[in-house]
Amino acid sequence: MAADSESFVCLEDFEKSARKHLLQSRVDYFTDGCNEQFTLKENIEAFKRYRLRPRLLRDVSKIDLSTTLLGQHIFWPVGVSPTAFHRIADYAEGEKATARATHSEGSVMILSCASTCTIEDVATASASGILWMQVMFFKRREITESLVKRAEAAGFKAIVVTIDQPVFGKKYSIDKNKTSVWFKLHAHERPVNLNLGIKDKGGEIAATLDRTATWEEIKWLKSITNLPLVLKGITTGDQARNAVEHGASGILVSNHGGRQLDYLPATIDVLPEVVAAVEGSGVEVYLDGGVRHGTDVFKALARGARAVFIGRPIIWGLTCKGYEGAKQVLSILREEVNTTMSLMGCTNVNEIAPSMVVHEDYFRKSKL
Ligand code: FNR
Repeated sequence: MAADSESFVCLEDFEKSARKHLLQSRVDYFTDGCNEQFTLKENIEAFKRYRLRPRLLRDVSKIDLSTTLLGQHIFWPVGVSPTAFHRIADYAEGEKATARATHSEGSVMILSCASTCTIEDVATASASGILWMQVMFFKRREITESLVKRAEAAGFKAIVVTIDQPVFGKKYSIDKNKTSVWFKLHAHERPVNLNLGIKDKGGEIAATLDRTATWEEIKWLKSITNLPLVLKGITTGDQARNAVEHGASGILVSNHGGRQLDYLPATIDVLPEVVAAVEGSGVEVYLDGGVRHGTDVFKALARGARAVFIGRPIIWGLTCKGYEGAKQVLSILREEVNTTMSLMGCTNVNEIAPSMVVHEDYFRKSKL
């Protein structure tokens, strides 16, 4: 837990503080990207290469950030990406704290299948909040099916299937830490919704993933649920077209926070290609990866995302202050989005136009 004297004014403050409060092996697990960590850094750096072109002297006395995701009303276009093991960050409540915070901040939470709280407990904690369930294709397909059925029964509103993880990406620090505490999960830190037949080692989950999965499995998933399907991990137009053909309702443009395949491009860069590929299909496009500021959210919306999601910042919030920290992370970001909208001259998300965000090269090429 963070000291009362610490001040938190932006999302990076939570990261700095959290790094001091966790064992290094766990900081490595939460923070690191794969291999050279190129994509991890690029997710953040790419946002900085886009510039804003505001409209001025517009009445911005009232800003409405609300939108809908898969037909559900949310108060602002930012949600929480699925991240595993929240009780490593917040022993007391874990994902239940995240669900409460997300609901209280008027947003949507995607629950990781490697959650340390049960699906049912998270649904109860969230009260009437909007929850989506993230699943993967396990070798024992009944595990995937049981996650879907339990989420349906608990009132979740969508299934998010992660398709960029047939194997785990290689993280150098995790390999170095193999004897560390991260690989010895405490009882309360286990993925309680997965009956994987493994003991207590976080690393063993990799062996349970089904590498044989193809687009046929998306058809299977659709056949076992009536909930809308969101495909997470898409980074090209071709993949997006495939997702549309296979009945996706949403696409989460994601490179897994730079944790799977290094040298994938930053999500903010590939976003328009995906948006163009699904144009006219009615499929919603979201983005995650490197979103840390209100201006990042604006840039993603201008480049075609309907909403964006954040991963690590929630873990840092939980580590620093549990429920209060996760809530504060979201409220700080919401306030930043609100301020950005006012300064950009937009009173609601429909007024955000692609021309309001340009790549830095725009000015180099300009003859003015
Ligand atoms: C993840 N991510 C992830 N994705 C997923 O589909 N299922 C999961 O269980 C997890 N677990 C997970 C754990 C940790 C510690 C991290 C950092 C990430 C990826 C996550 O959903 C998201 O794509 C990225 O975190 C987004 O990037 P940022 O916001 O962390 O930069």
